[in-house]
Amino acid sequence: MMTRTGQEVRLEDYKPTDFEIETVDLTFRLDASRTVVTSRIALRRRSGGDAPLVLDGDELTFVDLKIDGRTADSGRFDASPSRLEIRDLPATEFFTLEIVTEVAPAENTKLMGLYRSNGVYCTQCEAEGFRRITYFLDRPDVLATYTTRIEAPKKDAPLLLSNGNPKESGALGEGWHYAVWQDPHPKPSYLFALVAGDLAVVRDDFTTASGKPVKLEIYVEHGKEDRAAYAMDALKRAMTWDEERFGREYDLSVFMIVAVSDFNMGAMENKGLNIFNDKYVLADADTATDTDYANIEAIIAHEYFHNWTGNRITCRDWFQLCLKEGLTVYRDHEFSADMRSRPVKRIAEVRLLKAHQFPEDSGPLAHPVRPVRYSEINNFYTATVYEKGSEVVRMLATILGAEDFKRGLDLYFTRHDGDAATIEDFLACFEDANGTDLSQFSVWYHQAGTPVLSIASRFDASAKKLTVDIEQSVPPTPGEDGKKQMHIPLRFGLFDPDGKEIAAHSVAGIDVSGDVMHVRERSHCVVFEDIGARPSLSLNRSFSAPINIRYEQSSSDLAHLARFETDPYSRWQALSELAMRELIAATGAIRDGQSVGCGDALIDSLLSTANDDALEPALRGQAISLPGEADIAREIGTGIDPDAIFAARKSVIDGIASRGRETFEGIIENIMPGGRYSPDADNAGRRALYLAGLGYLTHVALPPDALLPIIRSADNMTIMSGVLGILVHRFPGSAGAETALAEFELRFRDNPLVIDKWLMIQATIPGPDTLERVMRLMGTRHFSIENPNRVRALIGSFAAGNPTGFNLPDGAAYEFLAEQIIDLDQRNPQVAARILTAMRSWKSLEPVRQEKARAALATIAQQSSLSPDVRDITDRTLGQ
Ligand code: TRP
Ligand code: ZN
Repeated sequence: MMTRTGQEVRLEDYKPTDFEIETVDLTFRLDASRTVVTSRIALRRRSGGDAPLVLDGDELTFVDLKIDGRTADSGRFDASPSRLEIRDLPATEFFTLEIVTEVAPAENTKLMGLYRSNGVYCTQCEAEGFRRITYFLDRPDVLATYTTRIEAPKKDAPLLLSNGNPKESGALGEGWHYAVWQDPHPKPSYLFALVAGDLAVVRDDFTTASGKPVKLEIYVEHGKEDRAAYAMDALKRAMTWDEERFGREYDLSVFMIVAVSDFNMGAMENKGLNIFNDKYVLADADTATDTDYANIEAIIAHEYFHNWTGNRITCRDWFQLCLKEGLTVYRDHEFSADMRSRPVKRIAEVRLLKAHQFPEDSGPLAHPVRPVRYSEINNFYTATVYEKGSEVVRMLATILGAEDFKRGLDLYFTRHDGDAATIEDFLACFEDANGTDLSQFSVWYHQAGTPVLSIASRFDASAKKLTVDIEQSVPPTPGEDGKKQMHIPLRFGLFDPDGKEIAAHSVAGIDVSGDVMHVRERSHCVVFEDIGARPSLSLNRSFSAPINIRYEQSSSDLAHLARFETDPYSRWQALSELAMRELIAATGAIRDGQSVGCGDALIDSLLSTANDDALEPALRGQAISLPGEADIAREIGTGIDPDAIFAARKSVIDGIASRGRETFEGIIENIMPGGRYSPDADNAGRRALYLAGLGYLTHVALPPDALLPIIRSADNMTIMSGVLGILVHRFPGSAGAETALAEFELRFRDNPLVIDKWLMIQATIPGPDTLERVMRLMGTRHFSIENPNRVRALIGSFAAGNPTGFNLPDGAAYEFLAEQIIDLDQRNPQVAARILTAMRSWKSLEPVRQEKARAALATIAQQSSLSPDVRDITDRTLGQ
């Protein structure tokens, strides 16, 4: 078997290039099967030696090379699809190369480099896609200014776009035309973009804080213009917010967004020309859910924010990916929190982090936020780099406080504008601006694994003392031994028996600033003095650190916090901890063949939160949505039997539903917003609470026949698809469910983004029959292995979002996934590798399933022609 050794890239090997590229002049003569790319690059020799110049390529057809304007003899260079090596270069400091390559956009199924999506030419260059267009020093520390000339037949491609400002355009012979774009800002090649095709445009204007006008343009397929209005609105709000909150202004005269239907990820921040998966641009009430709207707002903002955190200041190398991604996610989280409800946003963030990043951090694919090795960079666009990377920035803000954090960030923007920077550069700005030492804090970037704080507390009534023992540890992760102690900012609060928060006057044994304890040592013995009666301790309020807490807190303490916590996030946290205990106990009972009950502490807390009109509806909705099956599996950790978890969770829900029937009936009668659909946070929260209440009611009342009319009369996609999901998941195979699915298909059959929801709902039906359904759906016109959104909706959500349907004891679904991965890998390795990560937690399964999962992974590993992407994930997942 092939191993990964030898092809690994290591941070410690970083070396600047021998040559700088100062300017890049590109000419594209577009043709679907034979595009000719001419690249004129001006180089400067940095070091004295006569080292050859080695340019990166990937599946390129070499056509021609000129050095300083003269055709190079074949003896001076070697060209292969993946490399151009040029020897005995001019001895002068400056020289130019003119390189001609040919590429075939229509055959580019990897969707990296120049490809076609629905007849539109587009590019994706991050991380290493530019080398699929022309030979280049394709690494982020090579910054150049780009001029791009695009030539194409006017009828196929009336629209010709690239980065920067439009310079010139005109007609050529035989129905062809051209346009020239110039980007004044030096940039790395991964930010290059080109779009050419026949698209409609939605326009708007923006004036920056310093008075510069900016044209805003969103390009979509003809007829979809109305569905771009929300994205445009989100963009303008993001631009204003970045000026007000971070003092960042836009820096070109035009900002363009293009929506395409074939895209490997969510969106891409190319300078001045963002390219988006159309799923994150297009929305209207009939076709988009509240979640879709929230995602569009967040991703439009994310890509826009990259203009400073990513583009003006970029990464020195790909190990520094979190420099731009962690910081930009932090910025988009803050934006959404300001636009919507901060606690609701925080709960959603923590749920997502725990669902995606925690399992990554505790499994075979664990890696530090700033990794030191990779064999395929595409596989490092992970929840750890993005989401944990954002949490690390958030902790920095917590530790420094708002003012010092701002001072450090301002220094970062001024000191590193125009640079390709590192995490060390970033941290040095906060140290230098504030005279602080962040060396212990920096461990968050270097060490993988989710830290654990083990807590024990005791109250001495006569001494009026609460003693809290805190011990930190970090579980082992692949390739790292000897974990270091970390600096963990732990927000806390104490609540007296009446539910009032105690201002903790004197605390010994730990540094405290405001409401934050600074855990820095392996163990702390913390003493709170002058406490009159045994208090309830609330820890990690607002999720101040991305850690696990092991604390044998009584159920009555948790119920007390669920009722009296003043931080709404922490109220949810207490309730979900209470629920998790109940669900874990119920799973144990199912496995031991015992009957499952549900404790009153949970039901009382949950129902009183559900009934609390003082809380915003979205919070009440979050409060009653129990941890999912995968959350329970993660907390149990080993010997997982997904069927037992499913049965346990269902019993607990049955128990809550039968006692809470009136509460839930009250909710569904009263909570829905009136009037026309609006995606705003309050209305969306009302719908979320309604759906959560409705879900419970299907366990005690509401048969399929009662749900069908709700779907039929819904005036928005949130309710329509939400109730469809409830119906189909609760009553799989029922006549009502199948009728609803058929009606939905009939109505939306020509809207692929809506059909994705239909595919996803079916792929996540619990139980053993879903595998066959997924296979059948793959044969319908609604599925295409070529489109990443379809593949993710059907195969991705089946593998990652259907614990009972995917983890069949006979391993049939694992075998199915292995076949699909092997097939998909031939066409789109990046998407194949991503979907395969669904198997990363295989070692936590019970032995029978574990062996089947291992066998399926071994089938993939045995293939001789795997892509580096799938090879890397397979080998690491197997632990090789
Ligand atoms: N930089 C993009 C973002 O987070 C991520 C991205 C988009 C990407 N497309 C990609 C990364 C393709 C790798 C490959 O905003
Ligand atoms: Zn990003």
